Amino acid sequence: MPTKLLVNMRLATMCEGNPYGLLEDHAVGIDDGHIGFVGPESEVPSSWNDAAREDLGGRLVTPALIDCHTHIVFGGNRAREFEMRLEGAGYEEIARAGGGIVSTMSATREASEDALVEAALPRLDAMIAEGVATIEIKSGYGLSIEHELKMLRAARRLGEMRPVRVVTSWLAAHALPPEFKGRADDYISEVVLPGMTQAKADGLADAVDGFCEGIAFSPEQIERVFEHARKLGLPVKLHAEQLSILGGAALAAQHQAMSADHLEYLDADGVDAMAKHGTVAVLLPGAFYTLRETQAPPVQLLRDAGVPIAIATDCNPGSSPLASLLLTMNMACTLFRMTPEEALAGVTRNAARALGIGRQAGTIEEGKAAELAIWNVTEPAELAYRIGFNPLHQRIFGDLV
Ligand code: NIG
Ligand code: FE
Repeated sequence: MPTKLLVNMRLATMCEGNPYGLLEDHAVGIDDGHIGFVGPESEVPSSWNDAAREDLGGRLVTPALIDCHTHIVFGGNRAREFEMRLEGAGYEEIARAGGGIVSTMSATREASEDALVEAALPRLDAMIAEGVATIEIKSGYGLSIEHELKMLRAARRLGEMRPVRVVTSWLAAHALPPEFKGRADDYISEVVLPGMTQAKADGLADAVDGFCEGIAFSPEQIERVFEHARKLGLPVKLHAEQLSILGGAALAAQHQAMSADHLEYLDADGVDAMAKHGTVAVLLPGAFYTLRETQAPPVQLLRDAGVPIAIATDCNPGSSPLASLLLTMNMACTLFRMTPEEALAGVTRNAARALGIGRQAGTIEEGKAAELAIWNVTEPAELAYRIGFNPLHQRIFGDLV
């Protein structure tokens, strides 16, 4: 049933072809939560005559935003660690001394599922207020089967409490909990793999993630995680080449990963492997900024090789306490020299692809979900340009606003 017809707007469809997929004088029809019509205003079929007509006053309309890499479910915060870094301590040094991810693990284990939901809601609401309609949420701070599953249940509940699509990732291979010190292989065997089986059986995991790094897991250990995911039919992704180069991105690509994320230390071989397998590069300027990283990801190599680039907040209590996808777009331009168009594609079309939902979301096309953001701007570059200003007029999520 045609429910709504949007008219009088500038439409950035983000379909490939012309810059921003921009269309002028077009109308968008919403039918049962889906986009039922995109076409010139003068050619709207008569079947739309009864739909509620909404004049958008010349505003810009884009696909609703997609944050394809977050850790918004966690207990506590790491403001003390922020102070320690300002006093000179390094991120890896703090992690090796039992701080970092492991300190958030303690706070997350102590928190009830209800408390995790309550703590994450304001972060989710901040994202929704900026036009986000899809958010990926990872486990990774429970580091035991019980607490990792609790995190993913909290993530699913967030998706039921708010009009937003939540996509989850099983990230038990994020850090080694203290009780497994010196026994990382046992942790994989006893927690990461059986917990993944359980998460899949309970419908809690849409994908599997890992952290391949000196302070986390080796490529060999990550390979075991990927093998198990393949047996369960779960797609994979990886935190790779964030602090050093271990070849994680190429490993992920060889396992048909949907994305490899961070990538500051990615080299040409890694880029080639990602291009060959169609792996999306998810860049996380919030972590780059927070850790005062000096080596930027190889954006030009990725571009030249045709690797799709997504960007995300990486919202987490340690390396990226950032809950603004608009600010992330600005940072991607200023810090990584991406164009405003690449930044917008990075939070729409390419972010959808990184989550394996490219058929449903990420561009404005007939047949896709009606997930739109209506902005109080006219030029698409304005979205990445401002800092600390939210020009959202209205967000549409299916038949909901
Ligand atoms: O994506 N890189 C690994 N994991 C997170 C950081 C987690 C933390 O410091 O709590 C990230 O940056
Ligand atoms: Fe992350």
